[in-house]
Amino acid sequence: MRRRGLCAPLVTGPRVLFLDHTAALGGAELCLLDVAAHLRDRAVVALMADGPFRARLDERGVRTVVLEEAASLQRVKRESRMPGPGAVSAVLGTARAVARLGKDYDLLYANSQKAFIVACVSAVFARKPVLWHLHDILDPDVFSRINIGIDVLLANHVATRVIANSQATANALRARGGARARVDVVYNGVDAAVYDAVTDAEALAVRASLGLGSAPVLGLFGRIAPWKGQDVAIRAMALLSDRPEVQLVIVGDALFGEESYAAEMRALAAELGLGARVHFLGFRSDVPVLMRAVDVLVHTSTAPEPFGRVIAEGMLAGRPVIATAGGGASEIVTAGETAWQIQPRDPAALASAIREVLANPARARAVAAAGRADALARFTLGVTLPQTERAIEQAVRA
Ligand code: UDP
Ligand code: GLC
Repeated sequence: MRRRGLCAPLVTGPRVLFLDHTAALGGAELCLLDVAAHLRDRAVVALMADGPFRARLDERGVRTVVLEEAASLQRVKRESRMPGPGAVSAVLGTARAVARLGKDYDLLYANSQKAFIVACVSAVFARKPVLWHLHDILDPDVFSRINIGIDVLLANHVATRVIANSQATANALRARGGARARVDVVYNGVDAAVYDAVTDAEALAVRASLGLGSAPVLGLFGRIAPWKGQDVAIRAMALLSDRPEVQLVIVGDALFGEESYAAEMRALAAELGLGARVHFLGFRSDVPVLMRAVDVLVHTSTAPEPFGRVIAEGMLAGRPVIATAGGGASEIVTAGETAWQIQPRDPAALASAIREVLANPARARAVAAAGRADALARFTLGVTLPQTERAIEQAVRA
């Protein structure tokens, strides 16, 4: 009789200690979820907070550790000017804990900026290589100059390798002084099988359960935050008074303290008389079926999107996508061929793109099909996981 699970797994590659500062389910964490699950036989994920990301890692069989030492680091904000003595001692305490854990691993893989700083300090104690997976465009309007300065210094002199989630993210690092860092651009990958498994009946059932009927439905997916531009989509709806049957579903919630913006968005929809046409679904873990349930996917970020998983997911779901230009979004999309593209903060442009898509169903189907083919070629895990593994191996060999 063969009994499964009793033998120790055959470990054939570098052992990786992943480190993330948050356990909320942002795109960077969903990206790490697939990478860590793929390497689960030789990986652990150390988290500087507890939360739903840990539960998702558990479900996928990934070993996790929550670093209690990091509790006080949660109060250090990304726009903070100067790290106080409390922050320094929290970084040191957390770094020592990571170094102790790291003894059994070949690489420290930092998935966020805070995690990167901690990993670099740990590397001094543990003498292990550090790989930084950079998910943000280092923009001084968003991150303090001191934070960017520290990131760049560490990327140039401590990290053995950096993975950037787009060329735009890599370019911003270089532009801020990170030219010495060894950067690999690896786009996010998505599990296409999960999208392919959704049946038309399931998509219709979701539509019915939301009371959406047969009217055209737009879907805006992503956490609720000012730079994700939910207000642009709501204002575009108000401009679509010639198409009063069109509905908008907003899927996502405030994840990182943007609750007041989320409340403003509900108030804006009500104020514009759209209470019955704009549906706030909150955070959902059934994005693939929801994407198949909507007719058009809109993306409205007002700042350059570092990558933009929701765009790639919408393309994989075979939906016509209207994406906002800038950052990784402009690398994902070929305007007019694989998606529609609009400029940021322009509700009128969004409204006219929506009208065009709805008025030309044959063209919408053709663009959606081209988008899906392109996403299958560039943004699936089958394509991106080997690239990530290659960067890991090179970081260990460096
Ligand atoms: N997402 C989700 N549930 C929601 C809203 C979004 O699982 O209710 C997922 C979405 O499918 C995508 C990720 O959250 O995979 C958001 O990633 P993206 O890169 O678009 O943006 P980020 O929030 O990381 O800036
Ligand atoms: C970040 C970025 C997003 C990107 C995600 C995964 O959260 O904001 O654009 O898609 O990381 O790399």
